[in-house]
Formats: sequence, structure tokens, C-alpha cells
Amino acid sequence: MAPPAPGGVEWLGLRGHLIDAPVFGQLRSWREGAVLIDPASGRIAEIGEFGLLKRRHRPHAVQWVGEPHHLIIPGLIDTHTHLPQYPAVARGDGELLPWLRQSIFPLERDFSRPRAQLQAPLFYFDLARHGTTAAMVYSAIYEDSTDFAFEAAAASGLRISLGKVMMDVASYGPLQPKKILSVSLLESETLCRKWHGANDGLLQYVFSPRFAVSCSDRLMRGAAELARQYGAAIQTHLAENVGEIEKVRYQFAWSTDYTDVYEKCGLVTSRSVFGHCIHLLPREIAALAAAGAKIAHCPTSNLYLGSGIMPFDRLRAAGLCIGLGSDVAAGPELNLWTVMRSAIDSQRARSFYNRDVKPLKVADVFHLATQAGAEVLGAGKNIGSLDVGKEADLTVIDVESLLPYGGSGFPRVSELSPQDLIALCVYRGGPAATVATYVRGRKVYGAGQAPPPHPQRPDADACDI
Ligand code: GUN
Ligand code: FE
Repeated sequence: MAPPAPGGVEWLGLRGHLIDAPVFGQLRSWREGAVLIDPASGRIAEIGEFGLLKRRHRPHAVQWVGEPHHLIIPGLIDTHTHLPQYPAVARGDGELLPWLRQSIFPLERDFSRPRAQLQAPLFYFDLARHGTTAAMVYSAIYEDSTDFAFEAAAASGLRISLGKVMMDVASYGPLQPKKILSVSLLESETLCRKWHGANDGLLQYVFSPRFAVSCSDRLMRGAAELARQYGAAIQTHLAENVGEIEKVRYQFAWSTDYTDVYEKCGLVTSRSVFGHCIHLLPREIAALAAAGAKIAHCPTSNLYLGSGIMPFDRLRAAGLCIGLGSDVAAGPELNLWTVMRSAIDSQRARSFYNRDVKPLKVADVFHLATQAGAEVLGAGKNIGSLDVGKEADLTVIDVESLLPYGGSGFPRVSELSPQDLIALCVYRGGPAATVATYVRGRKVYGAGQAPPPHPQRPDADACDI
């Protein structure tokens, strides 16, 4: 091996079976492959066959890590999840609106700064442990706890888009209704000024009006204007549940449909990410597509709350860019492999009743959780696939551990096709198989790593998680 250049830093070389899906429906694979990461930029500098890369002469030393049976994939991307809700997974058995009222708003109402200090580091740790390197996340309505959630995101090293939830209609907050609108806008702007682009661009602020049911049109217009002013993204929920849609029709009698409410308020843009989008009319799908809006498909949540099955083929045929979201706590896990499996299962269920529906394949959902997720976050040129020049957001999986007999050699990992290997992850994957997670070439999680230390529960009475 060549000696390190004077003052040079050792480069990181990851060895394994590389698999990615830059194009919907197609897997790309290098068996016995390797990725070389430039430590200065955190970008993929070289990619290819391990033997070739190992022999290549370079002016710096390379630290090679990995095993031939490790899968190296682009880091998974969660386009829709709620940090304060994580303790409430699998709670309640009602549909969306009663579930929010009974199981979620009481928990979010208590998302104080001390509560964020308890939860946020563990939440990000769990994302990384599940192989997720980037996520678009909702906080609660408070500035101070959201501020801490950003601090913890920076400490985690993950790529996080985060926003304070905005609500001024029937909010759970302690403020007088008249004050809520101006305070919500002001606090969101303060957080955006402080955190948008922080930690070398790994953190982004995302304006987060919860959904039309809990927002006045003035609040939504204000959020849209701020997002435009700061070049920031927008996230909200759309057409998730029929009861929700009824409420919107009643609250916004001037609108032609749900999407029209957001359009009139300026929220439908190419930087907007709409969660769910199950019950859209053809006009709404066309309007979202024309604006280049992005969709967060949350199938585990949609099944848990009985919201419905998103007509994936119709949204995709319209040209919409669709990523996947765990939507914790309506989705019971941060595990994006489970979300991928649920996306396949739910479209297959639709296909039983509608012969025109083409079921989703493993390669399709893997693309949704990687390259398409990156595009939803507006980072498709930077992350999402294994290409030279992209930032090294990578997940390493011990795929052998997902086989029924583990490392018995029956079957041998080397005998399985790329499609079979990703299918093993989709149908049996989870945190126990994550060997390591890297963001911009920096290890943010390693197998067996202990969770970050956390303070004692802040106040036993106020903290009933
Ligand atoms: N609609 C408005 N708020 C929420 C939420 O917190 N979770 C889900 N699943 N849907 C919502
Ligand atoms: Fe949600």
C-alpha cells in the first residue's frame, strides 16, 4: 500500500456487493465491488471492482473495510415522519381525526425542550440504526423544542429537513387563538434563519403547516410566502382520510377540492412534499404534477389508520415524483424496509380487485426509498445512488444475517441475484442487519453502537411516555 502523502488523510474504502436503483424498476449491481470516499469532500471518488480499485496506485493510503457478503446501498430516505410522536407507535385504534385528538395531540402538546432533549438524540440514533441517512421530519408546534431537535440533528450527523408544526385552528398549544397565527409565522421564520443550510448544508428548514383542517388560509399563505422568501421546502398532509376531506370541504367552502385550498394559498410548488395523497381527484393529481410537487407515500400508516390505499400507478402515470415515508407514529416503525414491503403488499391487494393495476416490484420500491426519496428532498443530484461525485450517504447491510439459517452457507449469499438480495432486505430487513450507516462519508452508526446517553425523564408528572 502506498504511504500516506505528507499531511495527507487516509481515504475510506468500503468493500462489498454494491446495489442501487437510479432508475425506477432497475437494479444496478457490482458483485465484489468497492466505493472509495474522498474524506475532504465526503463524496464518492471511485467506484468499481474491489480487486481493481485495491491495486490502483494512489498518492494517499486507503483504509479498506467490509466483507464480500456485505451489501453497500445508498442510504435509505424517509420523506415523512414525526419526531415527537415516536413514543405513541401502535397506540389507539381509531381513524385519523380521533387518533390525532386522542393519541397524538396530548403527546405533542408535552413536547417541551426537556422532552426533546430526551427523545431527539434517540430518534436520530434509531433512524441511523435502521439504515436511514436522510429524513424529512415534523416537530411539534414549539420553537424551543424544535430548536433542540435541530441541535440533536446536527450532533447525529444525519441529513435532516425539519420544521415546527404550524397550526392556528383548534391547536393544542397554550396560546390565545389570535396570537397563534403571528407567533407561528414568527417562530418558524426565526428557526429557518438559524437552521436552514446549517451543519454544512446537512440541515434544512421545512415550513410545516400541519394540514388544512388545522390551519387558517392566512397561516398557509404566510407559510408559503416564507418558504418562497428563504428558498425552503414545505411539507403538509393531503387527502389522507375521507373524514378529513369532508372537514376541509366544509371549512374552505370556497374551494373546488382539497388541493385547490393549498393551491390558492401558494403551497403547491416544486419544493412541496405532500404526505399520503390517497383520495385525490384526477384534477388534483394533474395540478400537483403540473407544479412538480412531490409525494410522500406512507403505506404502513395508511393501513394502520385504515386511511386507504394510494393509487400508486395513477400518481406515477401523471409524472409525480413519489418517495416513501414511515409516518411514525401512524406508521408503527422507522424501518423503511417494512414500508417498502407494505408498498408492495398494498398495491398487490389493489391488483386483486382491479386487474389494470400493475403490482410494484422489489426494484421499484428500492428506487422509491433511495433515488426517488432524494428527489423528493430536492437532492436527487447529490445523493440517492452510487455514482462518482455524489455524496457518500451509504448503508452497509449484513445480508447473510437475513437468511433463515444465517451464515450456514445454505444458501450462499454469493449465489443470490441482486433482486433476491434486495428482496431479502425488503421482506426480512431491519436494524439488526445494519452494519454501518455513513453520511457524507462519515460513519454515523456502527453495529452494536450504544444509543447516545440521555438525561433522566424531565418531570415524572408531565412526562407520561
Ligand atoms: N394529518 C395531520 N396531522 C397528521 C399526523 O400527525 N399524522 C398523520 N398520519 N396524518 C396527519
Ligand atoms: Fe404524517
